[in-house]
Formats: sequence, structure tokens, C-alpha cells
Amino acid sequence: MKTRSGKRALEEVPLSRLDTNQSTPKKPKISIDHLTPTKKELKSQNETPKRTPLKILQEAKAAFRRCATPKKLIGRESERQKLNCFIDEHVTGQKSGSLYISGCPGTGKTALLNEILQQREKAFRELPFTVKYAFINCMNITDAKNIYSTLADKWKLSGSASLTKELVKSRVVPLLVLDEIDNLITRDQDELYTLFEWAKMPNSRLVMIGIANALDLTSRFLPRLQSKNYEPEYLSFNPYQIKEIAAIIKDRLMTLDEPDEPASPIKPNGKQDLPIMQPMAVELAARKLAGTGDLRKALDVCRMAIQMVENEEKSQENSLIIPKVTVKHVLSAASSMLGASSNSRIDKLQMQSKLVLSTVYLMIKTKQKDLSVRKVEESYRTICSYQSQVGRVEKSEFNDIITQLDTLGLITLGYKRGQTQLSEAVVGLNIQPDEIVNAVSKKKLS
Ligand SMILES: Nc1ncnc2c1ncn2[C@@H]1O[C@H](COP(=O)(O)OP(=O)(O)O)[C@@H](O)[C@H]1O
Ligand SMILES: [Mg+2]
Repeated sequence: MKTRSGKRALEEVPLSRLDTNQSTPKKPKISIDHLTPTKKELKSQNETPKRTPLKILQEAKAAFRRCATPKKLIGRESERQKLNCFIDEHVTGQKSGSLYISGCPGTGKTALLNEILQQREKAFRELPFTVKYAFINCMNITDAKNIYSTLADKWKLSGSASLTKELVKSRVVPLLVLDEIDNLITRDQDELYTLFEWAKMPNSRLVMIGIANALDLTSRFLPRLQSKNYEPEYLSFNPYQIKEIAAIIKDRLMTLDEPDEPASPIKPNGKQDLPIMQPMAVELAARKLAGTGDLRKALDVCRMAIQMVENEEKSQENSLIIPKVTVKHVLSAASSMLGASSNSRIDKLQMQSKLVLSTVYLMIKTKQKDLSVRKVEESYRTICSYQSQVGRVEKSEFNDIITQLDTLGLITLGYKRGQTQLSEAVVGLNIQPDEIVNAVSKKKLS
């Protein structure tokens, strides 16, 4: 992560763009086979593409990766406005204060805040004071008490004791963003209270933004903050609705069109099909996932469905037809992702995938900080070298396995700001450790 120096510098840039109750969706009242285009239909719809179908499918998968955040997020206008007002009033206006953001996972909280801060970075530099910025993803904090030393490190202070002095310095506005504050929950929630209290201290210049995923944290924590008079401003992100999810999916698909190389042919009437996915398949992906409001899952279903089409495509020799994700693919991707408990999702994994998952588990158990995909791969290879009867997969297959574990919701991959390399993504475990122990140790790895 880059840090910047200079008096008026925004001193630190966000760590990450990190990057999961499903309702049982109704069966669509449509015939699947009817919607699957025949080879003949596809041929007449598609002219010879300049990019190969496989390449377009790979680009499509990349567009649906969780870290593939678009230049501008779709919608979220009122939230955008509220965030900008808060920043105007408190950062630009040099007035201490705190904002508490809550919403289910995958509702765009982190992405929107990152986007806005990025857009304002230049303006911050031009202010006649320094905006001293720190972004901490609390998911990476193993013990809530470490939050102080982590912040001191970010602000390059000699120790936690000097933190409170930093909050009252003139010509500095400390801007602290704490993402995933759910992970700071202790029995007394002392640390969380202290952090919000800092913004209310006399002479404090601190501007603090806390982001929480769990709504019950908000209902327990906010009233207590209010009763202590630390009352932050509050912004809630509602789950995405079907229309919004579909618009976001379509936006990502449209990025596959390049001006001189459309990913879908232009018809004689000048109109163009949506690239790669049938409109009904987009609608279904949005419908299936709208119950959760978690956009990441909708993106995952699309990516998995695209992967299925890619696998089909690989078995076709030299095909020039750009295939499309159909309702059938989306149904199949959604059922393997959403239909099963984590136990059965682990059960269904191939032996090598179980091994990679167990490696992640072991590393997290030994409290490895900032666990990257690269570190997991190194350990996985070491484990394989001790077990001569266990073969090991090549790098590209390892990458597919780690992405599959993420898609299946067993692990999470988080990307630091500006970082899109899979090897540097931060790995988190998305399931209870005992679920892995049960699934892997009772049976033979098979
Ligand atoms: N309005 C949107 N338009 C486009 N992509 C979005 C939008 N909201 C969220 N995303 C994408 O969905 C994913 C999850 O968003 P994120 O901000 O991490 O959710 P949260 O922080 O609420 O858990 C990210 O890849 C993000 O880029
Ligand atoms: Mg987030």
C-alpha cells in the first residue's frame, strides 16, 4: 500500500476494497430449453468476432470478480449525497464528528466510500491543512485492543499513547475510516466506545467513519452510544432490489464491448444484444439474489455461470460463435452456490480444494496476519511436499481453486486499494473452523 508524504498530503490511502440467509426463490415460470439458443440461432446472431469467444468469456469472468469495481458505482445517489455532505461539513469544515454506516454485506458500503474518498483526494490535497487519513479494515485485527497500535502504525506515531495528542493538532484533520467494525466487538465493546468518544473529546479534530455489516450491532450499539452522548450521524444502506442488481450486472456486461470490437453483434436494425448473457438470465440472477441484497453473491453467480459456459466452450474446437449464459446456467450456478449448507459444500469439494481450504484454516488458526493468497500457496506447497502421496496442482489450477472457494462462500478474498492481483488478495475464512474440522477430519480426503 502506498503512503504519501508532503504537508498537505492525504497521508494514507485505503487498505482495501474488500471486499455473505437466502430466501428460497420461486421457480421461474419459463421453459428453460426454449430460452437456450440453438447453435443455428447463435450462428445467425453472431458475426465472426475479432476477439475469440474464449477470450471474451475470460474478460467477462474478470469483470465479475469481486475486486472488479467499476469507475462509478451504479445508483446509491442518496447515500452518495449524504456521504459527501458529511465530508464537506466535517473534513472540509474542520469540525470533529462521527458517522456510523450500517447495511448488510455486499450493499456497496465500502465501495461507495472508497469511490468518494478517491474522487475527493485531489481536493483534500488543496486544502490549507493536512487531511491525515487512515483506513483500517477491522477484519484484519485479531484482538480489539490492537486497534490502537494499528492506528499508531498507520499514522507513523511512536506508540499508542501519542494517539490522542494527534487528534488535537492544529492544521491537521485526522480522518479515520474503520471498516467491518463488527470484528471489534468485545463483551464491553470498550474499544468501539473509545473510538467514537474520541470524536467528541474537547478540542478533538477527529472525523471518524465506522462501517458495520451486522444490523444487530447497530441496534445494540447505537442506543448505547446515544445514551453516552457520543451519538454519531447515521447512514443505512438498504439491500439492493432486483432492478438495481440487474442494472449493475448489465453495466458490467457492457464493459465487455470495445468500440471497434463489440462483444455482441450489431443487428441490421442498429440494435445490439447484451453481451455474453441473455437478458432473462440477468433477470434471474438478480431475482435469485435480491432476497439477500448481497450484490457480491449475484456477481458470483454470474461469474460461475460464465465459467460453466467457458467449460462448454473449451470442448468446442475452434468455435467462433460467442456463446451466451442462459437461464439454465444461472439456475445451475445458483443452486450449487446457494442451495447447500457449508458442510455439504465442503463435502462436494475435490481433494485438492479441501487441502487448500485446510491450509487456510491452519494458517488462520495460527493467527497469521494479513494472510495473502501467495502465503497460502506457499504453505500449501510445503504441506504437499511433506505428503508424498498427495500430488499438488499447478499455479493456474491453484488460482482456480482459491477463486472457487471464494465463490462458494467458504473463504473471502479481499483486495487492497488499487490491487487486483489474486496472489496479493487477503484471505479470510467465511465459515466456522469446526465445520472444516468436521468435514475434513472425519472422512478421508477424497
Ligand atoms: N452500486 C454498485 N454498482 C456497481 N458495483 C457495486 C455497487 N455496489 C457494490 N458493488 C460491488 O459489489 C461488491 C461488494 O461491495 P462492497 O462495497 O464490498 O459491499 P459492503 O462493503 O457493503 O459489504 C464490490 O465488488 C463492489 O464493487
Ligand atoms: Mg465492506
